[in-house]
Amino acid sequence: MSRAANNQVFELIFGLLELHGFHTHEAQASIIGVTPTTITNWKTGKVRALNRGKLDEVIRRVHFLSKRRGVDLVGEPSLCPIVIEEGAGPADIERQLRDKWDSVYLGHKFLYYHPAGAMAWKKLLDTGYGSAQLAKGFANAFGLALRDSTPGKSNLASMLRWSEGKSCGVDLISLGPGDGAKEAIAIESLIDRAGPKHRLIDWLTFTPVDVSIPLLRMASERARNLIRDRLNKESWPHFLVRPSCSDFEDGGIGFAGHLSDNPSDRRLALFLGGTFGNLKSETRFVEYSLGRMLRPGDLVWLEVGVRQDRIEDDGLYALSKGQLGDTQETVRRSLVEGPHRRFRASVGSPLDTRMRIIPREGGATCEVPGSYNFVHDVDINPSGQRCSVLYSRRYDIDALRRWFLELGYETRFEHRVKDSRGRDRTAHLLLFRARV
Ligand SMILES: C[S@@+](CC[C@H](N)C(=O)[O-])C[C@H]1O[C@@H](n2cnc3c(N)ncnc32)[C@H](O)[C@@H]1O
Repeated sequence: MSRAANNQVFELIFGLLELHGFHTHEAQASIIGVTPTTITNWKTGKVRALNRGKLDEVIRRVHFLSKRRGVDLVGEPSLCPIVIEEGAGPADIERQLRDKWDSVYLGHKFLYYHPAGAMAWKKLLDTGYGSAQLAKGFANAFGLALRDSTPGKSNLASMLRWSEGKSCGVDLISLGPGDGAKEAIAIESLIDRAGPKHRLIDWLTFTPVDVSIPLLRMASERARNLIRDRLNKESWPHFLVRPSCSDFEDGGIGFAGHLSDNPSDRRLALFLGGTFGNLKSETRFVEYSLGRMLRPGDLVWLEVGVRQDRIEDDGLYALSKGQLGDTQETVRRSLVEGPHRRFRASVGSPLDTRMRIIPREGGATCEVPGSYNFVHDVDINPSGQRCSVLYSRRYDIDALRRWFLELGYETRFEHRVKDSRGRDRTAHLLLFRARV
């Protein structure tokens, strides 16, 4: 635009219109509801000021440009509509399942995208899976990482620049939030420590990422409700929940395009509940997916299953030996066998499937040194052909930290959560991306 007008109000209006993608006089005129000649007059300085009514109208129209993109700027704390990334919608995942159903490896993402799978997951959480204890462990770990803001200490608080007494914008991402219980704990903890009184957070956008729309809705609404209930109305616009139905393993990571590029803002990706151990390839995930989502200086909070000194002490070991036969096993079976059962029902094949868990030490599915894999296989036809549906890996935490360091991620905080028998069950690692 010509700067001849030398009028900052007009510069502001046209700057915003250009950022919204309206560059020509004609485009700007049609979106503001005036003629192109009027636009020329505003730009050249022929018109020096707008009357009150016209200015209000321009404000309304610029506000509308955000609203029509789906951001609810008024009323409740904003919950954006779910964006479905190319290739990650329910029909895409169903199509991929049909293409892959008789392959050697299927993959974890096929377990929950169907509403029946999402319900099976919720049921598994209710069967003594230990989710309440694990959530408590996460709350404890997250609180500890935020508490100490001593300068020089490498914890979450200092990486958010709180130890310098500075504020920043926070992009909180969650990969596979499930029901979002732990994410709500994280947001609550951030609000409690940094909340409006201390003004350590300029804004917070929570981006839950999942291929399961039922679970994505649950996690998003839980977060939005928490923000609504914990904060006063004036603080709501600082918080935004922006759910993205995306495939964080094989997809384009398009949701990263919505994150702030400002170097003083921070991105913190939560990857909780052992989902890292379910990935097809941890190396590809770190190099490709995290590589696209995080910049040097950004953070990942990882929760992984800990490898027991005696592998027989792992809950899944008994299951692999067929020694449980309880409700938890039944629900796990329905979750793991679900994708094949539904596929076979849809093509009219016999439904008999059986899950078998095969403990595997090392080998191609254990890229991280010292890790141990419980591979969940199901038979896919009566002639005994089998398909690996799910990997559940356990990690030697020191070896995992070294592995991450080689890929450019330094561990800045570590915390273990114990099971009811006092053994380390999961480990929380706060990883700092030190280099590209
Ligand atoms: C085990 S569940 C939820 C774990 C949860 N974070 C917790 O701590 O309890 C894993 C979640 O990851 C999602 N998921 C798995 N693979 C995915 C992928 N490639 N892309 C997107 N979501 C995926 C599933 O749909 C599911 O909601």
